[in-house]
Amino acid sequence: MNMPRKPDLDLLYTRMQSMLTPMEWSLITPVIEHIQALKAERQAVILAHNYMRPEIFHGVADITGDSLALAQKAVEVDAEVIVVAGVHFMAETAKLLNPTRTVLIPDMRAGCSLAESITPDDIRALRQQWPGVPVCVYVNTSAAVKAEADICCTSGNAVRIVEAIARETGSDSVLFLPDRYLAAWVQTQTDVRIIPFDGSCEVHEQYRPEDIHSIREDYNNDLVVIAHPECPSDVIQAADFAGSTAQMADYLEREKPGRVLLITECSMGDNLMKSHPETDFIRSCHMCPHMKRITLETIANSLQTLEPRIDIPAELARRARVSVERMLAVGRS
Ligand code: 13P
Ligand code: SF4
Repeated sequence: MNMPRKPDLDLLYTRMQSMLTPMEWSLITPVIEHIQALKAERQAVILAHNYMRPEIFHGVADITGDSLALAQKAVEVDAEVIVVAGVHFMAETAKLLNPTRTVLIPDMRAGCSLAESITPDDIRALRQQWPGVPVCVYVNTSAAVKAEADICCTSGNAVRIVEAIARETGSDSVLFLPDRYLAAWVQTQTDVRIIPFDGSCEVHEQYRPEDIHSIREDYNNDLVVIAHPECPSDVIQAADFAGSTAQMADYLEREKPGRVLLITECSMGDNLMKSHPETDFIRSCHMCPHMKRITLETIANSLQTLEPRIDIPAELARRARVSVERMLAVGRS
């Protein structure tokens, strides 16, 4: 992907009008212009996850998407600098896939409860306990954990990846780590035996099925409920559809529901509203504190200083890259 052209500020405002007052827009316009100038100067592109605030998602991002799309696109970036507006594991994945670029994460503290729930030692112990069983790790893990795995997956391709690695290794079981809820959801979609771990997403595990039932009652059940598969199983059962953040966006594009409840991080709905004027978005969401560490100001600062950078020791990167590239190869096959 080459350097993008500078977008028109009036056009940007029309995309964000429903979320920002003219006063708010006038306050952030100078920062957006500053970021655009820095992007050109540094030959940088911004990869932004679907959970970024609207002013980042619509205002300064060059590429947006779910974890899978960001990984796929990171390979193609030929700009000198990649700024990952997302969390740390996403920036590490971009660095693994495009190691010669400078990869920046605007705030090093932007972590993830899932990535923190498992260590390389845990995987080594699990391999001893389950000899011969292939290990599939969620992309929401550190590079050090990916280096111990056979393959990695995202919520957008988990079922396909589990089935592929089971087939390739001739195993009827797969260790699926670390999200216990995603593991339980994958188990409902496949005959491969899933062996889970006990990690969870601190944002999605806050939802309860009662939340969905009571909103359904409020709206006479005249709405579609879409849940992220990191939610507890009873929440997914109470929903109409489960999918990654990109699959949620695709569902809206395809089905154009009159009213929708997105059981996921708050910015997801904010970012989709503009392109779906036909849909009424019901607000009931939880915020990811890690994603919210990324702001226009931290992005500008990161482009200015070219810090903080992602650096992964070469041997670790080589091993971690194998599991990410194996995932991408399954997608291409
Ligand atoms: P997606 O891959 O669906 O975008 O999910 C990433 C994530 O962190 C969800 O909490
Ligand atoms: Fe991690 Fe959950 Fe935040 Fe996604 S929403 S980055 S899984 S803590």
